Amino acid sequence: MASADSKAPFSLDSYYVSEELGFILPEPLEELPPYYQEWMDIALRIPELVQSHELRSHVNKMPLLSSEFLQKHRELRLAHVALSMMAMAYVWQEGEKDTVEMLPRSLAVPFWEVSQRLGFPPIFTHADGVLANWKKKDPKGPFDMDNLELLVSIPGGESVRGFFLVTLLVELAAAPALRNIPTVINGVRSGDTEAVARALEGISQSMQDMTDALKLMQVYVEPAVFYGKMRIYLSGWRDNPCMPNGLIYEGVQTEPMEYSGGSAAQSSLLHCFDELLGVKHEGNSASFLIRMRNYMVPAHKRLIQDISLQPSLRSFVEQQACERLNQAFHQCVTKLTALRSYHINVVSRFITVPAARARQLRNQSQSSSEMVSEAPTALEERGTGGSSIITFLKTVRDETKDALLPETS
Ligand code: HEM
Repeated sequence: MASADSKAPFSLDSYYVSEELGFILPEPLEELPPYYQEWMDIALRIPELVQSHELRSHVNKMPLLSSEFLQKHRELRLAHVALSMMAMAYVWQEGEKDTVEMLPRSLAVPFWEVSQRLGFPPIFTHADGVLANWKKKDPKGPFDMDNLELLVSIPGGESVRGFFLVTLLVELAAAPALRNIPTVINGVRSGDTEAVARALEGISQSMQDMTDALKLMQVYVEPAVFYGKMRIYLSGWRDNPCMPNGLIYEGVQTEPMEYSGGSAAQSSLLHCFDELLGVKHEGNSASFLIRMRNYMVPAHKRLIQDISLQPSLRSFVEQQACERLNQAFHQCVTKLTALRSYHINVVSRFITVPAARARQLRNQSQSSSEMVSEAPTALEERGTGGSSIITFLKTVRDETKDALLPETS
């Protein structure tokens, strides 16, 4: 691999990273070849078909289509978006009380094949809901909330749009940081202290922009809708008490399989920053995060691994004893810690607080029309990826802080 070769300069060329958009898929397709019309007819109507309890019957009647007419990467990505969102809707149509044991053949077989070809798991991921699920209303217009639209959606209306598109804007805000990573790596290799310091300054600015973009979550997403309505459609069939055995993919394998649900823990961004800055995760938090790498675009996972193989930036900063470099490194770790701290606030607003309200309503055992009371109870203490949330997130945040150099911490 050219970029992993220590003699050639490190570049992002072979990792499916866009200069302008980072890990976001540039210009996702909006349509599949006409042969796949039946998939798209259902996928584009997911919210209304779930609402009328008809999605499962539509999927059951779907013909078994061959995936062989999908050729280009972007065709496969759109097929994965459509099939994965259909699968989530199929499993969770009736809530946590009436799930299914088996995904029918007409969905399971092509979903499996497309997943194999992309190197994705056969479940909905961050790469589906966020990275490949957008279009600009005006193609020449700006990349902002007013001009962006989702391709495929799940129940939850405007909050679904807000949730996926704000996350997309966080990914966009990180693009300059990704562009700076090769400069850091090449600067460490050649001993160019100034270049490394400048690139780290760019990265910490980009981290601040990510936090600012994340702040839009509270503008565009309603916590009760997120918690009570849409979150179940992101959840998977691993470590999930309401699907203890996982899911059978009919026509693929007779034994059930277990996969975690969609989560931005599957975004490659923070994994790259952790490896670059020398942030070390341990125990359960490390194993969860490492497992999430299997839910990424394989080229992005490879980038994370290749960054981890480079000479240590942290040791370089220590050895150089350069004030500007020390400061720039310190800023990066501090901004990454702050991003994770702000994310914990977001999680308490969107999960902990509504979960407490739902428990309170249940304890009063009154029937309530409040949206939060519709939320699944099995997910109360868990993230959609299956983790026990706040403890996990605080551990990961504190491990970030530990990467500060002793004299600056
Ligand atoms: C309403 C908005 C959000 C909620 C409720 C939320 C919730 C969660 C939860 C529960 C976890 C624990 C892991 C799991 O089980 O899935 C998690 C992890 C994570 N989330 Fe979010 N999240 C939100 C938005 C975002 C956004 C926009 C990003 C940025 C791309 C993000 C990045 C992460 C990362 C990187 C992790 C892994 C832990 C870490 O590395 O610090 N989240 N999130």
